[in-house]
Amino acid sequence: MRIQLSIIIIFFLPSFESCSSEDKTTLLKIKISLNNPQILNSWDPRTDCCNDWIGVECTHRRITGLTVAAGDVVGHIAEEIGDLRDLVILDWSSLYRLRGTIPRSITKLKNLTYLRFRVTELSGPIPEYISELQNVTFLDLSFNRFNGSIPGSISLMPKLEAVQLNRNKLTGSIPESFGSFVGKVPDLYLGNNRLSGKIPKSLSKSDFNTLSLSGNKLSGDASMFFGRNKTTVTLDLSRNNFHFNLSKVKLAKSLVSLDLSHNRIFGELPLELTNLRLDHFNVSFNRLCGSTPQGGRLQSFEVYEFSNNLCLCGTPLERC
Ligand SMILES: *[C@@H]1O[C@H](CO)[C@@H](O)[C@H](O)[C@H]1NC(C)=O
Ligand SMILES: *[C@@H]1O[C@H](CO)[C@@H](O)[C@H](O)[C@H]1NC(C)=O
Ligand SMILES: *[C@@H]1O[C@H](CO)[C@@H](O)[C@H](O)[C@H]1NC(C)=O
Ligand SMILES: *[C@@H]1O[C@H](CO)[C@@H](O)[C@H](O)[C@H]1NC(C)=O
Ligand SMILES: *[C@@H]1O[C@H](CO)[C@@H](O)[C@H](O)[C@H]1NC(C)=O
Ligand SMILES: *[C@@H]1O[C@H](CO)[C@@H](O)[C@H](O)[C@H]1NC(C)=O
Repeated sequence: MRIQLSIIIIFFLPSFESCSSEDKTTLLKIKISLNNPQILNSWDPRTDCCNDWIGVECTHRRITGLTVAAGDVVGHIAEEIGDLRDLVILDWSSLYRLRGTIPRSITKLKNLTYLRFRVTELSGPIPEYISELQNVTFLDLSFNRFNGSIPGSISLMPKLEAVQLNRNKLTGSIPESFGSFVGKVPDLYLGNNRLSGKIPKSLSKSDFNTLSLSGNKLSGDASMFFGRNKTTVTLDLSRNNFHFNLSKVKLAKSLVSLDLSHNRIFGELPLELTNLRLDHFNVSFNRLCGSTPQGGRLQSFEVYEFSNNLCLCGTPLERC
């Protein structure tokens, strides 16, 4: 019986395709929408898409991972992407002439946990419907040309762990809803956009592990990101127009990286800075005054991390 079975298996093996024909057809449509680029040469209809095609991962004959990277691809994201129903990882990056937007059909991918379109020319608004992808933990739309405002509905994605929207052309303010994520507060990267206005007060309720707002046009008070009870590790508020009194701020013990450079922050450096295990620190180009607290890791930083303030003094700067 066992011998018979193995004969049958051996007999069928050479012609057995592990790729479902439905998924194969879909992938070939995607290939056409990307204008049959060289990086997809391995996507040959005569071969098995699960075993032979670069960037394709399968589980039980269905496509669960699709990685397309680094190529001069002229095209758009095909509507048919939504037919790859079992997709868990969708990772497209460095596709320099991938244009258009993210099609609505993507919301059919209920099992998607990892969504990345990074370093492409995708443009227009980031669609609100992205938040219908309720299983996504990692959302990376960085280094694209998305414009318009950040959809507040992102806060409704319950499993988010990281959101990277940095290096786009996003405008408007940070959504009020980012003070109340339905799940845990994700690491948030919004740097190098064109965001403006004041930080909504609601954000004081969110305790970010990592927050980067660098290189925008945000203004006013950003002291809500500080607080003794926070567990923030990395805080980058550099290159904005923030204006608040740093003397009044209480620092979280967890802070390891703090960049406040290029703002209009005033007051004095808090003494608590000497208790932190800082490995990155920059308060240059602000309006700080008073003597630099002495101790901890603070004096291990260069003059350039303290320079160009109103009247800050003491090592590593000049004596007070
Ligand atoms: C999603 O994942 C679940 C559990 O792993 C699986 O049963 C299901 O078939 C997958 N596909 C869809 C479309 O839900
Ligand atoms: C999330 O994925 C699970 C399987 O992993 C699936 O059963 C469920 O329907 C998905 N949830 C949503 C909200 O899409
Ligand atoms: C986004 O960019 C497009 C194309 O450049 C432009 O037509 C549109 O007005 C922009 N939208 C916003 C909100 O800036
Ligand atoms: C910080 O946490 C302590 C203990 O959990 C609590 O009593 C206190 O009110 C909190 N302080 C602030 C400013 O939230
Ligand atoms: C900043 O706050 C400190 C402590 O409350 C206060 O003494 C100081 O006068 C404030 N500085 C300015 C410029 O308002
Ligand atoms: C701190 O900011 C200044 C001004 O932008 C810059 O010259 C310096 O290199 C920065 N230091 C670090 C460690 O990033």
